[in-house]
Amino acid sequence: MILTLRVQGARHWVKSTRCLASSAAPEKSPSSPPQLEVNGSTYATDGWTNVTPKILSYLGANKHLQTDHPLSIIRQRIVNYFYGAYRNQRGNPLFSVYDKLNPVVTVQQNFDNLLIPADHVSRQKSDCYYINQQQLLRAHTTAHQVELISGGLDNFLVVGEVYRRDEIDSTHYPVFHQADAVRLVTKDKLFERNPGLELFEETWSGSLADPKLILPSSKFMDQTKQPCHTLEAVKLMEHEMKHVLVGLTKDLFGPRIKYRWVDTYFPFTQPSWELEIYFKDNWLEVLGCGIMRHEILQRSGVHQSMGYAFGVGLERLAMVLFDIPDIRLFWSNDSGFLSQFSEKDLHNLPKYKPISHYPQCTNDLSFWLPEDIEVDAGFSPNDFYDLVRSVAGDMVEQINLVDKFKHPKTGKSSVCFRIVYRHMERTLTQAEVNEIHKQIASASVDSFNVQIR
Ligand code: PHE
Repeated sequence: MILTLRVQGARHWVKSTRCLASSAAPEKSPSSPPQLEVNGSTYATDGWTNVTPKILSYLGANKHLQTDHPLSIIRQRIVNYFYGAYRNQRGNPLFSVYDKLNPVVTVQQNFDNLLIPADHVSRQKSDCYYINQQQLLRAHTTAHQVELISGGLDNFLVVGEVYRRDEIDSTHYPVFHQADAVRLVTKDKLFERNPGLELFEETWSGSLADPKLILPSSKFMDQTKQPCHTLEAVKLMEHEMKHVLVGLTKDLFGPRIKYRWVDTYFPFTQPSWELEIYFKDNWLEVLGCGIMRHEILQRSGVHQSMGYAFGVGLERLAMVLFDIPDIRLFWSNDSGFLSQFSEKDLHNLPKYKPISHYPQCTNDLSFWLPEDIEVDAGFSPNDFYDLVRSVAGDMVEQINLVDKFKHPKTGKSSVCFRIVYRHMERTLTQAEVNEIHKQIASASVDSFNVQIR
C-alpha cells in the first residue's frame, strides 16, 4: 500500500489489484486467546485476530479530548470553524459533533458501506487491526458515515482516533486521529436561488449498480460526476465544499497560505479531491474530500439529497501548526511537552520548543506572604517567575502555582509553587538542584519579604 508521503492524514486510495488472502473461514492461530475483552465487550477471536495488547491499550486514551493537548486544540479549531460556517435561522450551529464513538467497528462499517471493493488492499490483515474476521479497530473515521446518516443526521463531524498497521517513525504511528464531516442538502436548499434545477438526471432510472458487481474502476475515476447527478448540482456542491474547506485551511494556517486542489480517487466520493498547502518548500496534502457516492446515501435511506464529505488527519495539521517535529510526541506524558499548549487562546498557538531528553527534577517551594498581601493583591506570581528565572536560568523548565490558601486565624496567605528543573544538555544532580532551590528561597525572602514554610 502506498501510504501518505509525510505525515499520516488521509489514505491513498488509488485502487490496487493486489488480492486479499482467501476469505474462507480462517484458522485460529494457536497463540491467540479464544476471546478478547475490548471496551467492556467480549469478542470471539479467529484467524484474523491481530490486535495486540499494546494496541488495545490505546483505546480510551482520547488524546483529542485531553485538556490543553495539541490534538484537542486542533479538534476545537475545526469544530468551531464548522459551527461558525453553518448556522440555522436561529443562529445555532447546524453541525453536530461525535467525538466519543466506539472505535470497534464492523467490516461492513469500515469498508462495505463505503463501497470499498472486496479486494481492496486497505482491507488486508497487514494493514488493519482486526479483532476477528468481522470486526476491527476503525481505519478511518469515515466508518461512521452510514450509521449516522441512517440515524437521520445531515450535517455532522466525527472526530476520533484511527488504527492502521504501520511502522513507527517520526511521521507514522499505528494510532492517529482524524476528523470527518458530512453535509447533505436537498434540491430546495442547494438551488435556493435557482428553483427548477434538479439534483438528479431526468434520464436516470433511480437505481444504481448492484454494489456486489465489480465495475471497472475507471468509471469511478471520472472526475466530472456520477451518472445520477446533474452537472449543475455537482458544480454547485463542489463550489460550496471547496469554499468551506479553503476557509478552514485559511482559518488554520492564515489567509496568505498557498494551496491547490488535486484530483484524486476515493471509493466513497466522486468526483474527489485533495487539498494541498505549500509548506516549507513542499506541497503537503492536508485533506481528502468529494461528492458522496449516491449509493451510500441510498443505503442509508436518503434518496432526495446529495452531499459532500471530507476527512483530515489531526496530527498532520498539528505538526505544521505547532511545528511539532515528531508524531510520537503526541503520546508523550512529559509535562515539558504538555505544558507548552493551552486551549485558553485557541487563536494564538505557540510554536513548540524542543524539550530536553534529560530527566526532570521537581521541588516545591511554599511560603507565607507578608500580612495583608495576597496573590494578585500585592504579590504577583509573575514577579516570582522572573525571580526564579534570574536565579536558575535555563535549568528551570516549568513553574506552576499549585496551591494557595488563607490561614483562618492569622489571615495570612500561603502559596506553594512547583518548580520543575531540567537541563537541555546534561542530567542535573539532586544536590545541585537543592542548592539552586535554596538560593531561590532566600532570594524570595529578600525580594518579597516572605516567610518560607
Ligand atoms: N477516509 C479518507 C482517508 O482516510 C478521507 C476521506 C474522508 C476522503 C471523506 C473523502 C471523504 O483517507
